[in-house]
Amino acid sequence: MNSKISFRDVVKTFPLKGATFTALDGVSLDIADQEFVTVVGPSGCGKSTLLSMAAGLQEPDSGRVLVDGTPVSGPGPDRGVIFQQYALFPWLTVRQNVEFGLRLASVPTAERRRRTDQAIGLVGLSDFADALPKTLSGGMKQRCAIARAYAVDPQVLLMDEPFGALDALTRVQLQDQLLGTWSQEKRTVLFITHDVDEAVYLASRVVVMAAKPGRIHRVIDVDLPYPRTEEIRLSPEFRHIRNEVWTSVYHQEAAPPRAA
Ligand SMILES: Nc1ncnc2c1ncn2[C@@H]1O[C@H](COP(=O)(O)OP(=O)(O)O)[C@@H](O)[C@H]1O
Ligand SMILES: [Mg+2]
Repeated sequence: MNSKISFRDVVKTFPLKGATFTALDGVSLDIADQEFVTVVGPSGCGKSTLLSMAAGLQEPDSGRVLVDGTPVSGPGPDRGVIFQQYALFPWLTVRQNVEFGLRLASVPTAERRRRTDQAIGLVGLSDFADALPKTLSGGMKQRCAIARAYAVDPQVLLMDEPFGALDALTRVQLQDQLLGTWSQEKRTVLFITHDVDEAVYLASRVVVMAAKPGRIHRVIDVDLPYPRTEEIRLSPEFRHIRNEVWTSVYHQEAAPPRAA
């Protein structure tokens, strides 16, 4: 099995008022190398918990989380994590924020410079490299956080509602930018969103989760070609898949609870 990321019968519980709350109840999912997978589902169904286990920030109670066939034992430079709340250092410029992880990794100066400039260029922030975060719009701050993850050159990008706080137009721009770098740099992406259109536009597969307990409800193939374009976004085929995902997110009660 040559999956890049594997979840094997993953169970995760949290203590809740003296009892046990099951956040993930036997989740199994394989993500191929260079695949783009999105995850949608109702609030509280365990999306962030799932992603944080791939990031190495949490461990399963039982089951296994593997990257390149090896159990995840903590965070690592092979996996870049991007959250909705861009945690930039306010006293550092865009360039210094992006460089930060490379400094931590003791990457030599010239190489650090090259990778920082490249990452800033990829997200379209070259003209703002010396700006402080407070002078940037929300979209630009999020681009900076994305550049910081790109700079470390991770093979895997783990993104948890990264565009959730942005306006619709910025969101569409960042989606196209992300798809552009994904296809150039050949990364594997696991991307959580609550936006069904975004989930379908980006992914080759959409994982629909269900809540109480958190589990995989359905996996829907997005049989649309890359590069994705506005024409695809407006096509009847796109609408058809989008409606299917929408129905399986918002009408889960009507379906059997454990449909594969
Ligand atoms: N550290 C924690 N302690 C207790 N409960 C948690 C913790 N993290 C998550 N949960 C619970 O687990 C469930 C899944 O959370 P989460 O993965 O954040 O869901 P989602 O991202 O799909 O909204 C929620 O009901 C949440 O309250
Ligand atoms: Mg979440």
